[in-house]
Amino acid sequence: MKPLNKIITNKDTSFNPIWIMRQAGRYLPEFREIRKENPNFINLCLNDDLSSKITLQPLKRFNLDAAIIFSDILMLPYGLGQKVEFEKNFGPRLGKFDLNEVAKIDEIDFVEKVHRVYKAIKKVSLDPDLNNKNTIGFVGAPWTLLVYMINLQSPKKNLKKDFFKDKFLINRILLIIEKFLKVHIKNQIDNGANIIQIFDSWAGLLEEKDLPNYIYSPTLNLVNFVKSLNVPVICFPREIRNYTEFCKIVRPDAVNIDYNVNPKEIIKNINIPIQGGLDPKILLTNKNTLKKEVIKYLEIFKDHPYIFNLGHGVLPETDPGMVEYLVKTVKDYK
Ligand code: CP3
Repeated sequence: MKPLNKIITNKDTSFNPIWIMRQAGRYLPEFREIRKENPNFINLCLNDDLSSKITLQPLKRFNLDAAIIFSDILMLPYGLGQKVEFEKNFGPRLGKFDLNEVAKIDEIDFVEKVHRVYKAIKKVSLDPDLNNKNTIGFVGAPWTLLVYMINLQSPKKNLKKDFFKDKFLINRILLIIEKFLKVHIKNQIDNGANIIQIFDSWAGLLEEKDLPNYIYSPTLNLVNFVKSLNVPVICFPREIRNYTEFCKIVRPDAVNIDYNVNPKEIIKNINIPIQGGLDPKILLTNKNTLKKEVIKYLEIFKDHPYIFNLGHGVLPETDPGMVEYLVKTVKDYK
């Protein structure tokens, strides 16, 4: 059995596997070298030779338990024909969403645009180094994708006042997102992904009254879909104020917590396996502080099925030496 399945399926508490969100990325000089030669980020994700190589870069350095495929949640709008670009020091910039154009896209068109992501997953999952490790596929949650597809850039702290103005458009887009997310998930699994993580990075932007429509209901549909394919699903509803209620309603197989969650409180209320929590900024301090914080999480989750990870992605300015120390600290913990 693969390490993450031991925790998620068997509820093992005798060890803590570790992987790191954004483990393949800009804090690694070997990634930056490839990135320098490949200014178009989407094309890099779609170059399965390079994206599979980048996926494996952190595993060559550190004793991690899982690979997460080097891709992006914005592959979905890209596959639907929306323009997606990544600008330095700005982040994603999307082109206007045209419902009439998107309505013409079928499953075959979508897969044709993104199929190299699946090829990369196949390459990664067949790599002998991954025999005893997980291959994680992922998608953005419908809500977070909706935010990007309408807002056309990262929303920072607030949504624009008129975000919800056109409810008809929003509900149509949500249905389209859900349909193609299922296609994207199924293809990732068919090509070797053995865990699916659903990233809802902007869950924290919603008021409580909007959670059922924009988060609970569409995410539950996806969670049930992944479960029907017999693959465990981890949800990360970042900065949602009530993780307990989210878990009760959406029932993922495991939940990733952000760094504002009090780990001592959460184990009292949530009985499914938990992942993550450590503030990525701790990796910018020093080894002593890092060790203290890591041990704190491991102690709190001593008797709870727990996958070590961060409370959000590793920051680009992180010293890879600190990541190495983090992995070693988790692995040496008894
Ligand atoms: O190692 C991994 O975790 C796998 C790859 C991965 C990327 N993006 C690569 C990436 C994953 C899992 C993602 C998820 C993702 N993408 C999320 C959810 C997680 C989160 O961070 O909240 C979101 C919101 C996105 C959208 C996105 N992609 C943003 C906002 C940005 C710009 C900000 C940034 O970090 O640069 C990206 C670009 C991106 N995605 C990069 C990488 C390695 C940086 C690209 C570069 O080199 O410029």
